[in-house]
Amino acid sequence: MRLPSLLHSENRRRRAGGLLLATLLLLAGACTKEDLKIEPATQAFPPPTPYALALPEFPFPVPLVPLPAANPLTVEGIELGRQLFYEKALSLDNTQSCGSCHQQRRAFTDGLARAVGVAGLPHPRSAMPLQNLLWEPRLTWDGSATALEVQARTPIEAAVEMHQPLAAGVARLQRLAQYPALFGRAFGSSTVSEANVLRALAQFERTLVSSNSRFDRYQRGEPGVLTVEELTGMRLFSTHPDGRVRGGNCADCHGGALQTDRAFRNNGLDATTPDAGLAAVSNRPTDRGKFRVPSLRNIALTAPYMHDGRLPTLEAVLDHYNAHVALTSPNLDPLLFNTTNDPLQLSRTLDLTAREKAQIIAFLRTLTDDEFVQNPQFADPN
Ligand code: HEC
Ligand code: HEC
Repeated sequence: MRLPSLLHSENRRRRAGGLLLATLLLLAGACTKEDLKIEPATQAFPPPTPYALALPEFPFPVPLVPLPAANPLTVEGIELGRQLFYEKALSLDNTQSCGSCHQQRRAFTDGLARAVGVAGLPHPRSAMPLQNLLWEPRLTWDGSATALEVQARTPIEAAVEMHQPLAAGVARLQRLAQYPALFGRAFGSSTVSEANVLRALAQFERTLVSSNSRFDRYQRGEPGVLTVEELTGMRLFSTHPDGRVRGGNCADCHGGALQTDRAFRNNGLDATTPDAGLAAVSNRPTDRGKFRVPSLRNIALTAPYMHDGRLPTLEAVLDHYNAHVALTSPNLDPLLFNTTNDPLQLSRTLDLTAREKAQIIAFLRTLTDDEFVQNPQFADPN
């Protein structure tokens, strides 16, 4: 499952330049003790080591978000990003890091309905899993961010998250013993900058690739990985019911290898929509109540569910789709209208049996990737 090396030729040029610089410094030769007192900012660092990200093969699609040329992945950049991801000095009162709300064992969620920022301030939404972000062109529940380098500033500065201006965090990192050298090795300068903090975090986040659930192995053609119950659940998940064939219509929206069509849709949680969702970004009334269709990868680890964490269990999620879709919700997705297993097609609800709901849940549990949540490369390094 290894794949195209994403090395950038730009990197090789930088490496050549760095070697030249190092040679020149060596040639400068006979330094006195005075000369050796180089200011950290001007110290020459060897160029960082390019990192070739291993991407999953078919049926995974090619990543939708190309690696930005201005921030190529490097071993040192990713390692710095990991340190920063777990660095509490980036929060106002030194109590919170990205890893507080994005915990690896929960597929980088926090187990809460809605996130809680420093000093207990309530976030209006539920923390999202961080996985396969190379396939997400629009980040967060309402798609308000497109690049990881841009998104990372929001949780650092938001009052309902870490609540500290990034500039203040930069000043703190500069004073901590380990960071000047780590920044030097990753970006060639031991002067910590806002841009390089954001770049390093984005590099680490891009390595959070999950592709080894039992369902992935089934899709790759490994025999015998799913039970009959799970396969029945998979069929129900993927089928749109029409009165003759029974189904849960989940794959209408959560389809494909990534279990999402990446669209923004209203799945009928409320008759009135307290959170505007996509409309807050697009300013179009027809987008009110629409949220990103989330991937269902690792879904058994990320309860509670939905953008505001209102549904505590997968059973509650199935009950929602089966019987409680708010049919009067503005902009309700057409795929949820007139979708029923009633043989006469008269019912306005999905009408799955208890057994069918349990089978779909059994399938959802095959989407858990234990290797991903136990990978030591993603864990807190301290
Ligand atoms: C207080 C808890 C909290 C902290 C701390 C936090 N996040 Fe989040 N994160 C959230 C919530 C809540 C959302 C959903 C935000 C929304 O939709 O408005 C989110 C969403 C995201 C997303 C979008 C994922 C996707 O699939 O679209 C990324 C990326 C992310 N966070 C990265 C980070 C990084 C990097 C840090 C540290 C700098 C961080 N977060 C710190 C709670 C938190
Ligand atoms: C019309 C499109 C659509 C269909 C059909 C659909 N979903 Fe969803 N699903 C969504 C959207 C949109 C969200 C996010 C809604 C929100 O939080 O406001 C979501 C959220 C979820 C979540 C919560 C994810 C999380 O991270 O909190 C689960 C679980 C889920 N759906 C499972 C299912 C199952 C199982 C089915 C079939 C019975 C199904 N969905 C059918 C669009 C759909």
